[in-house]
Amino acid sequence: MEYNKIISSINHSKINSEKINLSISVSKIKKDTHKLSKMYDFKKYMDSSDMSFPPEMNERIPKETPPYIDNGEHYVERIGRALKFFKQCALIGPSGTGKTHIVYLVAELAGLPMWEINCGLSTSVFDLFGRYIGLGKENWIDGLITSWCRHGGILYLDEANMMKQDVATKLNPLLDQRGHMVLTEKDSEVIHRHKHAYMIISMNPVSSEFAGTKPINAAMRRRMSVWLNFDYMSIGDNIDEKEFKMVSEIGGISLKDAETIVKIGAKIRQEYKSGDLPYGPSVGDLINWAKICSDGADIPTGGDETLVPMTSDDPEVQGEVRQIIKKVIESEIAQRSR
Ligand SMILES: Nc1ncnc2c1ncn2[C@@H]1O[C@H](COP(=O)(O)OP(=O)(O)O)[C@@H](O)[C@H]1O
Ligand SMILES: [Mg+2]
Repeated sequence: MEYNKIISSINHSKINSEKINLSISVSKIKKDTHKLSKMYDFKKYMDSSDMSFPPEMNERIPKETPPYIDNGEHYVERIGRALKFFKQCALIGPSGTGKTHIVYLVAELAGLPMWEINCGLSTSVFDLFGRYIGLGKENWIDGLITSWCRHGGILYLDEANMMKQDVATKLNPLLDQRGHMVLTEKDSEVIHRHKHAYMIISMNPVSSEFAGTKPINAAMRRRMSVWLNFDYMSIGDNIDEKEFKMVSEIGGISLKDAETIVKIGAKIRQEYKSGDLPYGPSVGDLINWAKICSDGADIPTGGDETLVPMTSDDPEVQGEVRQIIKKVIESEIAQRSR
């Protein structure tokens, strides 16, 4: 409706073509978000029309995020509820289970800018909180966390358990819902947490199998009221039809081939979760594999270009992955010829 109105108002006015392009693309984005918002019962928790941010933050608000598929767990709505009630929540799950994806989707639905930090990377306290640039104390630049606190949006802390202690210490006072931060570096300026400043942290499950994971900082743990567990759609012998339909549709291959690829992925994920392989493929990885096959490559050849090297550089590990691919294909052929 709104789209048509904009188009007809463009037809009846003599504005320059640049403006026309701009309003068409803005209305297209609105249309896409509108489609998404029909898929999820999200508005009862957060409504993008309640939010307003300065124009320079517009490009941080995600657009055209693909839908997040689940098995009726309603993850999108549950994140919305957690943010509405508690301002923050934690997502737990192995890599490739769609945690980053769903946070972008939630940001788009809520109309919130995204501030993303990977705590496993060696980002300095200065980058996160801010610093003076040049000589003297004239030009202060806010870091990512400071900007989020001042202007609002979703602060997404990936691999939050890997956070360095000096960052955690500065972050903790902020984690109380109405928290604030003190910029000791900047004459102790006090910044109150913006009313639409939400925080989502994510991490791998902590277990003996996930080498290198460590428990999250205790102060942060106590301040997270909601914890949501994520897992792969298909794993081991448990194959989700929705996943191979997605691989078939987006990857452009037959349902039969997509099912084979998902079965292979599911086996590799199982080995990853039990610590026998270093990586578990996401549905996105399987779709990429399918795309290569849609151009004529057979499944093993496509795997050699995508999943096999992606799993590891080690020829021995690559051999194990090839072995899994071979076994699944053989058993599929045997099953289908019966
Ligand atoms: N349930 C899902 N629905 C749609 N896409 C998904 C889903 N799970 C994973 N993906 C896709 O798999 C890829 C990896 O997801 P990502 O969000 O990066 O995982 P994580 O952050 O948990 O490591 C992305 O391309 C993402 O779009
Ligand atoms: Mg991620």
